[in-house]
Amino acid sequence: MLTAALQRFPRLELVPTATPLERLERLSAHMSRDIWIKRDDLTPLALGGNKARKLEFLGADAVRAGADTLVTAGAIQSNHVRQTAGLAARLGLDCQVLLENPIGTSDDWYLHNGNRLLLDLFGATVEEVDALDEPDAQLEALADRLRAQGKRPYVLPVGGSNALGALGYVRAGLELAQQLRGLGQRFAAVVVASGSAGTQAGLSLALAHDLPELPVIGVTVSRPEASQRPKVEGLIERCAALLGVEVPSRLDVQLWDEYHGPRYGEPNEGTLAALHKLARCEGLLLDPVYTAKAMDGLLDGIALTRFAEGPLLFLHTGGTPALFAYPS
Ligand SMILES: Cc1ncc(COP(=O)(O)O)c(C=O)c1O
Repeated sequence: MLTAALQRFPRLELVPTATPLERLERLSAHMSRDIWIKRDDLTPLALGGNKARKLEFLGADAVRAGADTLVTAGAIQSNHVRQTAGLAARLGLDCQVLLENPIGTSDDWYLHNGNRLLLDLFGATVEEVDALDEPDAQLEALADRLRAQGKRPYVLPVGGSNALGALGYVRAGLELAQQLRGLGQRFAAVVVASGSAGTQAGLSLALAHDLPELPVIGVTVSRPEASQRPKVEGLIERCAALLGVEVPSRLDVQLWDEYHGPRYGEPNEGTLAALHKLARCEGLLLDPVYTAKAMDGLLDGIALTRFAEGPLLFLHTGGTPALFAYPS
């Protein structure tokens, strides 16, 4: 049903085949727990990551609308902005972005390296703003300015997280369900970083339809549960409405908010420990803003026996270019 509903929406084929599903052999042995990973860090757009999935739908809509400029916003080290700029270059469009410095740092690596360096390579035009407190209004104001200059802007929300963008993770969720069914094991949970919420929302909706016994646990990267929950639930509702499907009553949004401190974009001790553990134990790179916080949640969840029996699946959502913006 979801597959047919998705087919009504035009899609750029940025992720033509399923991303790999791998067992983390040494980590599993080390933790005495079967741990698998889905490699959405390997999506083939601008160094990979989850935004390629959302951009399949948002990019197709921009092309349909006849846009000549992609417009979006985020942190200086935003992965979403980096992949949007890469897509704009690939489609021959301009890209204009608003960037904020959410941790108020003057560190040279953060200000100029990592994702920020790639924006210049992709030819994006950057405007720095003091804060993105009203991002939708700030983006609309920028789009108005561009229209007044005769341009045809297409606005993508922060993180690509509107209902259309979240369709990318409905599609990814169906892909994952098929991969897990192929393994023939009953998984205990999927663990994923939850920020602007489109990834968790789309994934949760798809799995609630297609593999309903499998819970999706969102590890928050910027907010306590009380403020993240309405974002995830609201987006699930809007995504289901866009697709014309029901939100299954069994869909239970699960959020773990113990791992995001001190704030968005700033790793804590547990974040760095998870980052180092995966690098040294598996030769696998996480990032200090999203995936290492989520992995900290997964590892701690095992230690605290927070999961039911069965293998665990970690969704690697990318972000590794930010490694070059943070001292390790
Ligand atoms: C690497 C990475 N992981 C996870 C996320 C969180 O995804 P979402 O914003 O859809 O919650 C982001 C979002 O910016 C990201 O860049």
